[in-house]
Amino acid sequence: MCGIVGYSGKRNAVSLIMDGLRCLEYRGYDSSGIAVCGGGQILIRRAEGKLVNLEARLGELGSGFTCGIGHTRWATHGLPEERNAHPHCAYDGSLAIVHNGIIENFREIREELQKEGIRFTSDTDTEALAHLIARERRFAGTLEDAFRSALSKAKGAYSVVMLSPEEPGVLYGGRCSAPLLLGIGDGECFLASDVSAFLESSRRVVYLNDGEIARVHEGEWRVSDMNAGSEVHKSEEFVSWDAGAARKNGYKHYMLKEIFEQPDVVANCLAGRIAEGPEGRKISLPELDALPVPRRLHIVACGTSYHAGLWAQQLLENIGGVAVDLTYASEFRYRDPILGPEEMTLVISQSGETADTLAAMRLASEKGCKVIGLCNVVGSSVAREADAVLYTQAGPEISVASTKAMCSQMLLLLLMAVYYGGRNGLGGRPGLLDEVLELPGVMRSVLPGLHERAGEIARSYSDASSFFFLGRGLSYALALEGALKLKEISYIHAEGYAFGEMKHGPIALIEPAFPSFVMAFDDELFPKVQSNIMEIRARRGKVIAIVQEREGEVPDLDADEMWPIPAGHPVCASFIALSAMQLFSYCMAVELGKDVDQPRNLAKSVTVE
Ligand code: M6R
Repeated sequence: MCGIVGYSGKRNAVSLIMDGLRCLEYRGYDSSGIAVCGGGQILIRRAEGKLVNLEARLGELGSGFTCGIGHTRWATHGLPEERNAHPHCAYDGSLAIVHNGIIENFREIREELQKEGIRFTSDTDTEALAHLIARERRFAGTLEDAFRSALSKAKGAYSVVMLSPEEPGVLYGGRCSAPLLLGIGDGECFLASDVSAFLESSRRVVYLNDGEIARVHEGEWRVSDMNAGSEVHKSEEFVSWDAGAARKNGYKHYMLKEIFEQPDVVANCLAGRIAEGPEGRKISLPELDALPVPRRLHIVACGTSYHAGLWAQQLLENIGGVAVDLTYASEFRYRDPILGPEEMTLVISQSGETADTLAAMRLASEKGCKVIGLCNVVGSSVAREADAVLYTQAGPEISVASTKAMCSQMLLLLLMAVYYGGRNGLGGRPGLLDEVLELPGVMRSVLPGLHERAGEIARSYSDASSFFFLGRGLSYALALEGALKLKEISYIHAEGYAFGEMKHGPIALIEPAFPSFVMAFDDELFPKVQSNIMEIRARRGKVIAIVQEREGEVPDLDADEMWPIPAGHPVCASFIALSAMQLFSYCMAVELGKDVDQPRNLAKSVTVE
């Protein structure tokens, strides 16, 4: 939550920071702010709402400053009002900070500081930290010591960047369980929550670990241990993401662009992972070769990533021969899970920074369980802390509603299932892999038609205030995802359900104004789905059915809207059905005039509990 960017160099800091904030706006967008130093003073501009409001207030800050910090906020403490927007200044004007995360002991800090006569002007936890650093400065030898001392007193998950007129041109950054990285350019440095903030300027990155502090001054940087103060040796890494991948490239919304990128995402994710050998095709996942085949995998994830895990559960079991448990990371972390010696934990996360997922992962590691991380963001915390990491290679996902990330997670999980199947002697599924290799082409050819059909259905059903999304077998997880997407961006109530469970209660809700979006794949559950649809129709419920063709024919289903998708293996049909539902939610949100890429109350990566 929240995006941080700091710049120290020789160029126009305000415009670089604003560019960075635009790229980070997906992390939070209820208010924003920027601070620079000039004439021994800190100048701050803040605004409620989106970045355009801040832009309108920049005024004389526009040029002439070469060091500054900026923030885009997703509120945790205090309403999204200007007084709660970051940066926050210390009581004596000696420094300003931007912060991402939560200072859990801020009440104690605030009470202590208030007793000393320090006045607070916001409801945030961040302000307490700003005052604490200034107070520590009274006793510390240097500004850096004061920063270090205050941060070591703060409890919670946070990343912080500070600037002060005491050291013009210098920025300090520190992290504890929230992302912060250094972007290194020619005579300049960035400190940011994520690489997209500075990709246009640099792809050389240094990832900070928890408990580390960075000091940057133009092109010079140094990292030290937060508690000991000793220097920590860090290496630069190169990020291969293309800056253009984080732009809309002519699409109206990032979400639409990312849905249409899915054929390429599948192709990228497959690249180099299916090898032709003397015994036929084989899955190559060398990242997993050094680890034993687990008897049981504990999948932990949140939101859409959890749905990808749910989709893959039966594949990992049936194709891979690996038993699978699946738990929301927010539940797993507060359970006392039993993790046996031949078991492993599989963490799925697009961002690799989701707080609950990280906590679950650390718990599994503490219990001696090996962790496989499956994530998209290179160098993220999941990637760095896992025993083995598989990258989904989907490129930057900017839209808050996750689309292409799920597509890539599903594909990689399928490859994992076939890979483990091979190691367990269960065969390599050549027929399925043949079809999977065709998937990018198939997806590319059907996406425009799916978009058109999604638009038609959205127009017909835009007055519905509730939807069911129903699936069985592989399509059950997709139903949950379809409902999540619709809720998330169009604010329409939607319930994802296992179709077979309808008769156990939810069917009571069915009436003509409560339509059901169902999926009928060409698998052994088709007759069951057919009967379940009849049960809805018998109660005058409207049905929209994604149905797989068979030998060029659309099978008979009693639905109000038929939405045929190509014949083939149900595993491949899942990718088409997923795209169809994403496009339906997208078209519905556009039809209702909603803010597709930045839906209310949400942020892209949830780095707080
Ligand atoms: O980055 P992660 O995959 O760990 O994120 C998990 C969820 O926060 C995320 O999938 C969320 O549910 C999306 N907004 C859904 O579109």
